[in-house]
Amino acid sequence: MSDAPDLSALDDAAVAALGEELPLLEGIRTTRAIRRLKPDPVPRSLIRKICEAGTFAPSGGNRQPWFFVAVTDPERRAFIAERYQAAFFPYIAPAVEAAKDPAYPERKRRNMRAAIHLAEHLAEAPVHLFVAGWTRRNEPQYQALYPCIQNVLLACRAVGLGASLTTTHRAHGEEIDAYLGLSPETPSCALIPIGWPEGRYGTPPRRPVDEVLFFDKAEGIPRRKG
Ligand SMILES: Cc1cc2nc3c(=O)[nH]c(=O)nc-3n(C[C@H](O)[C@H](O)[C@H](O)COP(=O)(O)O)c2cc1C
Repeated sequence: MSDAPDLSALDDAAVAALGEELPLLEGIRTTRAIRRLKPDPVPRSLIRKICEAGTFAPSGGNRQPWFFVAVTDPERRAFIAERYQAAFFPYIAPAVEAAKDPAYPERKRRNMRAAIHLAEHLAEAPVHLFVAGWTRRNEPQYQALYPCIQNVLLACRAVGLGASLTTTHRAHGEEIDAYLGLSPETPSCALIPIGWPEGRYGTPPRRPVDEVLFFDKAEGIPRRKG
């Protein structure tokens, strides 16, 4: 028996109240990629709520270039998952090989396993949320969509939905966009698989801020990434 919330109890008032109590900075510090998701459905009103959070993001000239396509139909999710997998597995293959070395960092191994789990089970994720946006001078403006995408991830955290940011579908971007009804003038940037989490939110592993913060002038940043 699943312990996803009882959706019949999630009326409009409950959806409106969900996630409103979480302090902002605590939410930011405890938003991590949740890639193990239950197949239980997510109410449309809740999808609407998290996309509304996305619309409060800043954008150049306040142009608000974003569109959202929330795919819930199982056949359509299977179509998307097939293409995601076709791009993802060759991409992750070198890491899978490297992870056979016992010296491979455990943290990276766990992250890789979770990403593989998501790819294998993508079709079962109840919502495939695409964030798309207007091109400018014929160029995609993905950077203009990332504040919106981050707001969506934070809103998922607040209401208790699991979510992660993915872009692998872009390898089949034109085909998927056409399938989604998106024209070349509004290409998709991110696919956020969303569902009720199997695991818990928690503090993600991050370098201490003191290693990356400088006042007035940066010092000692290596010329090559370690
Ligand atoms: C631009 C961008 C693209 C990403 N694409 C993918 C992806 O296609 N598939 C995936 O599983 N994770 C993807 N990620 C998610 C990162 O791998 C994730 O943020 C990282 O594993 C850290 O997870 P954590 O926040 O739980 O520590 C992407 C992240 C970013 C910022």
